[in-house]
Amino acid sequence: MTTPRPAYDIEAWRRRIPLLASCIPMNNCSQAPQTDATRAAAERYLDSWNRSGMDWDAWMAEVALAKVAFATIIGAMPSDVAVFGSVSAAASAVASALDLDDKRRRIVVSGMEFPGVAHVWLAQGRRGAQLCQVPVRDDGIEPNAYDSLIDERTALVSACHGWYVNGFLQDVARIAARARAAGALSFVDAYQTLGALPVDVRELGVDFLVAGTLKFLMGVSGIAFLYVRPEIVDSLRPTATGWFGRVEPFAFSQTLDWSPNASRFDAGTPPVLNAYIARAGLELIEEVNPASIRAWHEVLARRMIDGGRARGLVLHGTDDVSHKTATTAFVVPDSHAVEAAMRARGVLPSARGPVIRLAPHFYNTLDDVDRALDTLADVIRAR
Ligand SMILES: Cc1ncc(COP(=O)(O)O)c(C=O)c1O
Repeated sequence: MTTPRPAYDIEAWRRRIPLLASCIPMNNCSQAPQTDATRAAAERYLDSWNRSGMDWDAWMAEVALAKVAFATIIGAMPSDVAVFGSVSAAASAVASALDLDDKRRRIVVSGMEFPGVAHVWLAQGRRGAQLCQVPVRDDGIEPNAYDSLIDERTALVSACHGWYVNGFLQDVARIAARARAAGALSFVDAYQTLGALPVDVRELGVDFLVAGTLKFLMGVSGIAFLYVRPEIVDSLRPTATGWFGRVEPFAFSQTLDWSPNASRFDAGTPPVLNAYIARAGLELIEEVNPASIRAWHEVLARRMIDGGRARGLVLHGTDDVSHKTATTAFVVPDSHAVEAAMRARGVLPSARGPVIRLAPHFYNTLDDVDRALDTLADVIRAR
């Protein structure tokens, strides 16, 4: 049998990631490693700042290009994208645009939301929102678990695309269609899926999609993007706003007008340095190709699950790779101590509550997976 290989030149990509010389990064669900491209982008900003002192036109153009790169990855137009400092801030802006009137007060929230996103919806309780949670059962959620909770009282449904705990994939197209049929909006956090698989917002039919860049998009903290379906933009007036949400931000007027597109969700001065780095990561992922990445992730995930079973590790969640991202979680005692011990042996995992997450990406090899599993099994045995 021939050894499977990705559709791209993995060795060439590996040479562009200096960290691989000293360890095996398996923590992409947490923070991707630096590449030559992201480093050069950061230096380009620092050079421009040093050279010009100030170059706002060029810097704003970079933020616009970062929106273009994000729009490309999700199959949207750049005008459908707003920029934030974090996913939580983007969710807050969306929340601030909800009317939550007597007719529609309900917010349906999946039990798989990242806590920061769930907190934003919970905080709307002070504005009269009625929260309704779709519980996690057997480390997953059945798509039809949403059905009875979404009705004509629902303002918004929040469903994370990939669960940060074990990579479980939700059928967000089905959930968004159910929400739309009931006249409700859909909000999808794709932080754990963008860069790991192809995403087309028009095919998914979602109203909002949000993601930061520091996981599978190979970027950095301090920047996140929000897609707003163009057909609904006109009806939304976020009270979490600022001068970049205006028709002409640089008119410096105190008139509260609304940009005609998703940029009405922009607020203050955007994260310029982060936009440089984010664009480099986004363009790199586009070049590798999300469909090829997904195909390789499935090979790596299969090896991880079968290899974990062979070493007696306890899997958290489904063993069906078509229903999960490349992130695989194993239940361990004292996950943070296990993470520290693995780091000391040159493997970077990511601990979360009761599990150790091993989240390979496009540049990881089957040998990386085997070595990470051997290290995890050894560390558990030695405890
Ligand atoms: C799915 C998901 N959403 C949101 C976050 C956090 O987003 P932020 O810190 O940008 O609010 C994370 C992880 O950090 C995550 O995994």
